[in-house]
Amino acid sequence: MRGALLQVATLAAAASLLSGFYARVPLPPPPRWLVEEKYQCTSCHSLGGYGGMNGPPLDAAGEKYRRLKGSARAARAWFLQHLEDPRTWPGVGNERYSHVEMPIYRFDPGDREAIADYLLTLRQAPR
Ligand code: HEC
Repeated sequence: MRGALLQVATLAAAASLLSGFYARVPLPPPPRWLVEEKYQCTSCHSLGGYGGMNGPPLDAAGEKYRRLKGSARAARAWFLQHLEDPRTWPGVGNERYSHVEMPIYRFDPGDREAIADYLLTLRQAPR
């Protein structure tokens, strides 16, 4: 009985130590927040029916470029290039949108990669 109580107390102490530790480890921002808030991609693009109409909807962008470029790896490479300079690496089949040009962003370190990884996951309207 005493042993069990001691065990519980030890576990509780360990849990509170751990939660204190994890609370101090900064989490990377969720990629959808990067797209919708930080870089305001959705002022021109829609996701799940919300957002602008100056650029094509991004709902199935991952699927589209996986098919067009032949692999997930090639699609990711293209997303990185397109985000670096949309003029030099324009999208495919978007002629009717290109009257409003996509800006050349200066991304914070890691954000371009996080966004490319996120775009790759887009296969249908996210909820
Ligand atoms: C000022 C408007 C505007 C903003 C803001 C914008 N884009 Fe675009 N985007 C466009 C236009 C216009 C196109 C179509 C021309 C092209 O493909 O180059 C496009 C094309 C794309 C494509 C290709 C889509 C497809 O189906 O072929 C992707 C992916 C993309 N943008 C991602 C982003 C991301 C991610 C952001 C934010 C970091 C962003 N865009 C911000 C206007 C914008």
